[in-house]
Amino acid sequence: MSRLIVVSNRVSMPSPDGAQGGLAVALQAALRESGGLWFGWSGREVEEFTGSVNFEESDGVRSAVVDLEAQDVEEYYNGFANRTLWPLFHYRVDIAKYNRSFGEGYERVNRRFAEPLHVMIEPDDVVWINDYHLIPMAMLLRDRGVRNRIGFFLHTPWPPTRLLVSLPYHERLVRSMFFYDVIGFQTEEWLESFRHYCEHELGGRSEGEYIHVGEKMVRAVVCPIGIDFKNFREASETREANAIAERMRTSLRQLTMIVGVDRLDYSKGIEERLNSFEHLLHTHEELHRSVVLIQVAPPSRGEVEQYQKVREKLNELAGRINGEFAEVDWTPIRYVNRGYARAELTALYRAARVGLVTPLRDGMNLVAKEYIAAQDPEDPGVLILSRFAGAASQMKEALLVNPYSPEEVAEALQQALKMPLSERKRRFESLLDGVRTEDVHWWREKFVAMITETKVPPGKG
Ligand code: G6P
Repeated sequence: MSRLIVVSNRVSMPSPDGAQGGLAVALQAALRESGGLWFGWSGREVEEFTGSVNFEESDGVRSAVVDLEAQDVEEYYNGFANRTLWPLFHYRVDIAKYNRSFGEGYERVNRRFAEPLHVMIEPDDVVWINDYHLIPMAMLLRDRGVRNRIGFFLHTPWPPTRLLVSLPYHERLVRSMFFYDVIGFQTEEWLESFRHYCEHELGGRSEGEYIHVGEKMVRAVVCPIGIDFKNFREASETREANAIAERMRTSLRQLTMIVGVDRLDYSKGIEERLNSFEHLLHTHEELHRSVVLIQVAPPSRGEVEQYQKVREKLNELAGRINGEFAEVDWTPIRYVNRGYARAELTALYRAARVGLVTPLRDGMNLVAKEYIAAQDPEDPGVLILSRFAGAASQMKEALLVNPYSPEEVAEALQQALKMPLSERKRRFESLLDGVRTEDVHWWREKFVAMITETKVPPGKG
């Protein structure tokens, strides 16, 4: 078995309390099995960049991280990654910022990563680069003589060509992707957009899974990410999770719970979701005092203005709706700005009759899958899912909605709240099947196999 080198902006090592996402667990398992290494940013800022690498080993997983200086973090992470590519890739050209210094910082940091990384790569290693922070990495490694198989997986959507061309130097970014052997997308839709760009902007042509541009070619595939199903399911059945769920039900005095859990990000459609809930309260007075929306939204990327704005907006909106509808003994929205450990999350999902997952655009959305995994099979809740989440292409038995339409979301909420047990069970069983079989381990084995088996054409790199 080849050694696997995983590269991503954030590196996640095993932690004693096991409080980690499924992606981290799956990649750690792959690294443990292959004796591999996880490379990326330490998350720390230093006065001056030195390029020195800190190695760590924990529970059989090895990592190598580098510190960045303030200007790097500002231009690469807060800048090009989170002010330029993130909004653009989520179709928000209206808020994307195109500063030249961000692009320069992005390329500089990618070079700063490539320098120590390339000397760690041994001849038989398989290299797996993750996400929009590191798109040019294969090109930079090839420049430094790396001839190994290199795969890239994009966790976010890929935008339509008409939006992508608003990015200065878009061609330079996309051409750099032809130094990979395989590129993975979450859904057919994102892959189609990528192919469309290559054909219409670069004069490329497709042949099966391969896209050719001039002398270069790359294999572009769909490989949807899943959750760590077994682990999540087990966590939802522990005594601890059951006790927490019971406590929640008691504290909410038999109110019917609707739950939303999202990183606080404008792409998640939390504002639109609160507006939809408000519409429901306006149009269905009989629901007053009988439902509660629990919205969990841990803040993230707080140095970026758009994130500060959305946070302020949501504080204001949740306050206004509660002010308008609350009674002394009933608050319609419980809005919480912090994250929860797995046992609490599974309990929350299980206690909620409705999982409300309505991003405006999302590469995949794992909350939708976690909500299903946590349900009680004898009395499952209903998933309402945005048709604009990557997960919608796999989770057809959810109530699929347009998150921009308050009427449509409110109707789906009504339908979910009234849905008979037999229909809830039927939808749940079919959703569960997909979530269980196409889990995060299935995903990483499939993608690593694709990188490993892909024929490298002569002259690659
Ligand atoms: C998304 C991205 C990840 C990123 C995560 C958290 O899921 O695809 O690459 O790590 O958000 O964002 P943050 O900026 O805190 O790493």
